[in-house]
Amino acid sequence: MTSQAETVTVRVPGKINLGLSVGPLREDGYHELSTIYHAVSLYDTVTVQPADDWSVHVTGPWGDRVPADASNLALVAARTLARRRARRAKVDPVRIDIDKNIPVAGGMAGGSADAAAALVGCRELWALDHIENDMLEGIAAGLGSDVPFLLHGGTAIGTGRGEQVTSVLARGELHWVLWAGEDLSLSTPEVYAECDRLREEAGTVPGTPEPSGELMAALRRMDTDAVADALHNDLQDAAISLQPVLSEALAAGLDLGARGALVSGSGPTVAFLVGSQTEAIDLSVGLAANGPHGDIVRATGPVPGAQVVHHRNSPEPYRALPTPHRPGPPGPVTG
Ligand code: C5P
Repeated sequence: MTSQAETVTVRVPGKINLGLSVGPLREDGYHELSTIYHAVSLYDTVTVQPADDWSVHVTGPWGDRVPADASNLALVAARTLARRRARRAKVDPVRIDIDKNIPVAGGMAGGSADAAAALVGCRELWALDHIENDMLEGIAAGLGSDVPFLLHGGTAIGTGRGEQVTSVLARGELHWVLWAGEDLSLSTPEVYAECDRLREEAGTVPGTPEPSGELMAALRRMDTDAVADALHNDLQDAAISLQPVLSEALAAGLDLGARGALVSGSGPTVAFLVGSQTEAIDLSVGLAANGPHGDIVRATGPVPGAQVVHHRNSPEPYRALPTPHRPGPPGPVTG
């Protein structure tokens, strides 16, 4: 039995994309893109501890949709870091426990978030103090295009295939309501392929993707209505084409007073921007009553990326955060 002292717990947020411009398909099968990532306060919690063998166990609202085998990206991340370590000394295998609150296959980079958390957690567990953040980011980029951003957090520009991350100066806070359709998921490669197909059908040739100046200016001022007007996602039409219910969800939220709305990344999660916590409560309750069926959560952003919340050798046990704010019964809606 492992003692609490030998465990490391990391909290990691999900992301939405405030802007996503998709360029041409590259020879390596990825699309050149320019995106503005935004980390929001919907968290997975990832705990690592020494074990006799490698394993992953997933609980939480989305736990049953996550593979608990060698394909799990958190486990792949831990083993990749262990291989890097191997030339110095062997490290013990780990058991990874994930409390899954970020929608699975939802366009919020939940799998990438768990991978980022596993890297941060194992670095501390194995005392790999010589592994600096930029080296961790290099390993992260090899695991997936969104993984470096989940180490980073905040609001940031992503270029290349999304793995090159630069901070954006954004002060203040944005309030969001996130809608994830029940039994709805989209495969990222399929959404990119659908985007290419729709472009070909329309005879559109994508240019070099660039961050929107309008969005950057709105973020610098943290002007909610200006951010709402500048929200943009080149993958949105493709996601709607594959899951038409998304246009119903977008329209329902806008009718109920959202300042802006967009599909997050490759979808199908829909992010609604509102002006305050009160507006977020009103919208989430309205959507639960009148929108298409789905899981609805309130969140704010930007928030930091993967962070250790229980350190190795800490005598205090880890105390879990309250669960995310979901509207409706059971229990009152709290801020
Ligand atoms: O990097 P990641 O594993 O998250 O990417 C998953 C898939 O999404 C890629 O295999 C590719 O089909 C698609 N993708 C893309 N262009 C990007 C990022 C992802 O086409 N910039």
